[in-house]
Amino acid sequence: MSNNRVSRRQFLGYTLTGVGGFMAAGMLMPMVRFAVDPILQKKGDGDFVQTAQKISELSNEPTRVDFSYEQVDGWYTSEVTNSAWVYKDGDNVIALSPVCKHLGCTVNWGGDTAHPDQFFCPCHLGRYEKNGKNVAGTPPLGPLDQYEISEKDGFLLIGKPTENTLI
Ligand code: FES
Repeated sequence: MSNNRVSRRQFLGYTLTGVGGFMAAGMLMPMVRFAVDPILQKKGDGDFVQTAQKISELSNEPTRVDFSYEQVDGWYTSEVTNSAWVYKDGDNVIALSPVCKHLGCTVNWGGDTAHPDQFFCPCHLGRYEKNGKNVAGTPPLGPLDQYEISEKDGFLLIGKPTENTLI
């Protein structure tokens, strides 16, 4: 017989360590995966969202363009619907955010009959000029944000809102 016999105490120690380690790994792996999963996800094709708006159909009159996209927040994915006020200024396409810079209500083009050529916020009677500049004397203290835009196959793509570059 060999002198390298494993005692009953050692056998139990090895067995419990092995089983305990296996069980601990089984509990920890899902937690680790859960924590790092969003980091491992592939990003989308880009930061622009396809809309159903043909660029050729735009005019110099602001038109509301709705668009939706999937928003990934950690492991939770939701469908977000948003909109932009879009018009042509010569050959340029301008897309403005509808979010009022006062308290975040949604502005409408021509919503105030007394000022049909301005954006109007019905919450506190805020007004903006066509280029998004806030009208002095009304509540908003800054201009509407401007969306980055792109074009694909004649259709408008909307990007992130950025500071207004028209003013
Ligand atoms: S939220 Fe638009 S004017 Fe107040």
